[in-house]
Parts: sequence; structure tokens; C-alpha cells
Amino acid sequence: MKLLVTGGCGFIGSNFILHMLNKYKNCKIINLDKLTYAGNSNNLSSLKNNSNYRFVKGDICDKKLVNKLIKKIDTIVHFAAESHVDRSILKADEFVKTNVLGTFTLLVAALRNGKKRFHHISTDEVFGDLGNKGKFSEKTSYNPHSAYSASKAGSDHLVRAYFHTHNLPITISNCSNNFGPYQFPEKFIPLAITNIIEGRKIPIYGKGLNIRDWIYVDDHNEAIDMIIHKGMIGETYCIGGSSEIKNIDLARLILKHFKLGDEMIEYVSDRKGHDFRYAINSTKIKKELGWKPRHNFKAGLKKTINWYKKNQDWWFPLKKRVIKNITR
Ligand code: NAD
Ligand code: DAU
Repeated sequence: MKLLVTGGCGFIGSNFILHMLNKYKNCKIINLDKLTYAGNSNNLSSLKNNSNYRFVKGDICDKKLVNKLIKKIDTIVHFAAESHVDRSILKADEFVKTNVLGTFTLLVAALRNGKKRFHHISTDEVFGDLGNKGKFSEKTSYNPHSAYSASKAGSDHLVRAYFHTHNLPITISNCSNNFGPYQFPEKFIPLAITNIIEGRKIPIYGKGLNIRDWIYVDDHNEAIDMIIHKGMIGETYCIGGSSEIKNIDLARLILKHFKLGDEMIEYVSDRKGHDFRYAINSTKIKKELGWKPRHNFKAGLKKTINWYKKNQDWWFPLKKRVIKNITR
């Protein structure tokens, strides 16, 4: 197994590379990452003497580089993206470039270099949002609401088009909200945990009633591992943690861990176009591939809180350097 992993210095990609190299002794990985503000090669410093791992700093939009690397591998696992909704509200140029044009560049290179196996990592946000009832599944129509989700939807459509038109052997997965180690502290869970450690309040958008379906990052990566090994070509798999919770209740769970209460919550103006609820029906991947999440939400949250407590050297400089007051 020779993989080209894109975006492997980001949150989910780093955890994926660690999972694969730990599990498979015959797996070789080239990690192509531009090292944007969200990429951190230190996440993989434990691999510096591992001969199965190679890091290449570069852009997935760079045709020449992508063509050169794709010749050396058999499977592409494509994580690289601009991933933060709030940033896409402020300025979406990089979202369109990386998420749409970058994916297109990879698809063309995969096709021209012997139809390489292509797994595309996408999001449940492409489906829009839900009211109080129902769940997203592989049959849900696309209805993206932010420039982030619209650019991810565009990339999903391109991936499917290369399957239908050119028989490129693709699979797609649409996953719900991930959490765990190495998540950039602009996302809700790590922002809340690190704020509390720093003695700051947790910012809650609107009334905190919006709902997300959380999945521990290793459960997502195990699903991707199964899809690249036994997924049906041309198919899409929805992946979710079956752990729905309102943002305010999640903030209170985190506060409870620190023996704090509502005095550490700050209600702030709502995100523009804030999707109300996401939830995933994962029946297909469970039935067809035998996947199921191994982490219980509360246990995963505790593990994550402890990781951020122990790894302040990892997140403190990132927070100081990058997070400005992102306007919603
Ligand atoms: P992240 O923002 O933590 O990491 C993205 C990585 O991509 C970074 O290392 C960055 O340097 C790299 N990158 C960005 N632009 C690049 C470019 N042009 N060329 C090469 N590398 C580039 O993102 P994440 O949260 O790990 O998400 C990874 C993927 O999973 C994304 O495609 C995202 O849409 C999808 N996803 C994320 C979640 C979630 O909850 N985080 C849920 C479902 C799907
Ligand atoms: O659903 C999958 C998606 O999950 C991924 O595709 C995205 O890449 C990932 O960023 C995530 O998107 P969300 O917008 O749902 O995640 P975020 O952590 O930004 O916000 C989670 C919820 O918390 C959301 O309802 C907004 C709210 N929130 C967020 C922040 C940063 C707050 O109330 N306060 C905050 O400060």
C-alpha cells in the first residue's frame, strides 16, 4: 500500500497517518501539505526516523508537483482543505482554490497517471441543515449554505463526475463533526477547552441551541481505513458518531470537567447563516463494511480534555499567533 495523503499535517490527516503507520507495517505514505495556518508538521515529529513516511511541503494546486508524486503511489487519500466555516464567511478565495481547484488538480493527475484509486474526504455540511427531526444519509440532496460547504460540495461533484465520465476508481465519505487531539484551537471543542485552561470564557454563538453530531477522530479514520480497503468503487459513505448535543450542553459538559459553571459562558453574536442541526445516519457503512464507532462521546471528550491539558506547548503558540477575533 503506497498512499499519497493530502493535508496530513492538519487535524484529521495527522491522526490518520499515525493510525495507518502504526497499524500496517507495509504501508508507505507521502504526505503532501502546504502548511497553511492549520498545518503543523510537528504533529508527526514522532515519524522522523520512520522510513515508511515522507513529508513534502507543497500545494495540491501545483500540477507539476502533484503529477510527480502521484506516479510514486497507488492510492490518494485526500484531506487537504480550508476547513473552518467562520473563515469562509470572512473571505472565501482560498476555499474555492484549495477545495475546488485543488481537488480538480488531483483528479486530473490521478486519471492521467493510470487511474489511481482516489478517496475523497468530505463533510456532512454539504447537505445543508436539519430541523429537529431526520438525519442525513447518502440519499440526501446537496444544499450547502456556507462558502466552505459549497466549495466542498463542488469538490464532491467533481469527484463523482470523474467516476461517471472516466471510470476513475473513487469513493467519497461525508463525516460529521470530529474532535480529538491536534484539532486547531479555533474549532469549538478545542477553543472551549483551551479558553478554560487560560481562564477565559467559552464564546457561545446565539443561544447555543444549535446541534452537532460529534465523532472521535480515530473512529472517523478507522472508517476511512475500511473504505480504502473494502469500499465499493463509485460509492459514498456517510459517517457519524450518533452523539448529538446542543452547543450549550457541550460547553456545560466541558465546564463540569473543570468544576466550573455558567459564569464561564459568554453569549456572543451568532454565526451568519448558522446551520441549526447536523446528524448522520451511518447505517450503510455499518451494514456494508462492518464499521462502528468505538468511542463513547463522554469518554472521548475526557480523553481530549486531558490531551489539551497535557499539550499546552502544542496549542498555546498557535492560539497566540493566529486566532484573531473572527467576526461571525
Ligand atoms: P484542518 O484545517 O485541520 O487541516 C487541513 C490541512 O490541509 C492543513 O494541514 C493544511 O496545511 C492543509 N492544506 C490546506 N490547503 C492546502 C493546499 N492547497 N495544499 C496542500 N495542503 C493544504 O482540517 P481537518 O479538520 O483535519 O479536515 C480535514 C478534511 O476533513 C477536510 O477536507 C474537511 O473538509 C474534512 N472534514 C472535517 C471535519 C471536521 O470536523 N474537522 C468533519 C468532516 C469532514
Ligand atoms: O460537520 C462537519 C464540519 O464540522 C466540518 O466539515 C468542518 O470542517 C468543521 O469545522 C465542523 O464545522 P462546524 O462549523 O460545525 O464546527 P465548529 O467547531 O466551528 O462549530 C461547532 C458549533 O459550535 C457550531 O454550531 C458553531 C458553534 N460555535 C463555534 C465556535 C468556534 C460556537 O458557539 N462558538 C464558537 O466560538
